[in-house]
Amino acid sequence: MRTIREGLVSEELQRRFHEAHSVLILTGAGVSAESGVPTFRGGGDSTVWRGMPFEIISSAGMLQRDLPAVWEWFNYRRGKLEALKPNPAHEAIARWQDVFKELSLVTQNIDGLHQMAGSRNVIELHGNVWRARCLDCGARSNARDLRFDRGVPLCFDCGGALRPDVVLFGEMLPTGAFELAAVKAESCELCLVVGTSAVVYPAASIPEIARAAGAFLVEVNPERTPLSDLCDEVLTGRAGEILPLLCQQPNREGGHDASYASIERMRPC
Ligand code: APR
Repeated sequence: MRTIREGLVSEELQRRFHEAHSVLILTGAGVSAESGVPTFRGGGDSTVWRGMPFEIISSAGMLQRDLPAVWEWFNYRRGKLEALKPNPAHEAIARWQDVFKELSLVTQNIDGLHQMAGSRNVIELHGNVWRARCLDCGARSNARDLRFDRGVPLCFDCGGALRPDVVLFGEMLPTGAFELAAVKAESCELCLVVGTSAVVYPAASIPEIARAAGAFLVEVNPERTPLSDLCDEVLTGRAGEILPLLCQQPNREGGHDASYASIERMRPC
């Protein structure tokens, strides 16, 4: 395994980027860090709420015990997200969906910034903070339409209590999401893992499935993770700085600029 010094993308990755038809991208909180979303294991102020660590306030047990408190926590998080915008990493990934024959975007993030950047058919492993789900009939609603005058918002269809449509600790992933991601991982040629500490399963098994099926595995992260040793290439740095360069056109001299190797492409991306 070769570790790529900051700023240098290997010829091999260029070639594989150039030739790939099916690509899978797995993202985590780090892809949204440059938009101002705190990461979970990078510290920051959102890991403790009213004295409770986020693993407690964001747990299935808390949902049973105190649904209004869970809503307060997720309303606080939505409030923090409201003003935030996608960054160049989200935008590069959104552009790639029109470049590769098949691009599967699998995210652990619930912030909706991929969709805001224009990404379609995002496979959300952990749900989405901008949606609510009925505890009785399962109907989903847009969280922006909810009324909180009696603490817990009610379902527009059946009047049942709504909960945030996110996966809480101790809960199963949404039906089909992981299975679909695993199928895509088994058939992709290139798998990019961007901004995840790769410690939370089953999401962290997606790149392992892709690698075992023969995909070229690339990690983009300013820090090493438990996945780094399994990767064919590790790009050490921030996603918002590295991803946009993976798709740059060759410079005029036909060579490569000093810092970043570029990719020759038939069509602009
Ligand atoms: N670009 C790329 N990676 C970054 C950047 C950046 N600008 N900034 C930080 N990172 C990396 C960190 O080095 C870290 O490895 O992003 C990773 C964020 O890790 P976590 O905070 O653990 O987030 P994530 O891997 O998405 O967590 C997985 O855990 O808490 C649950 O449900 C939650 O979806 C979340 C899951």
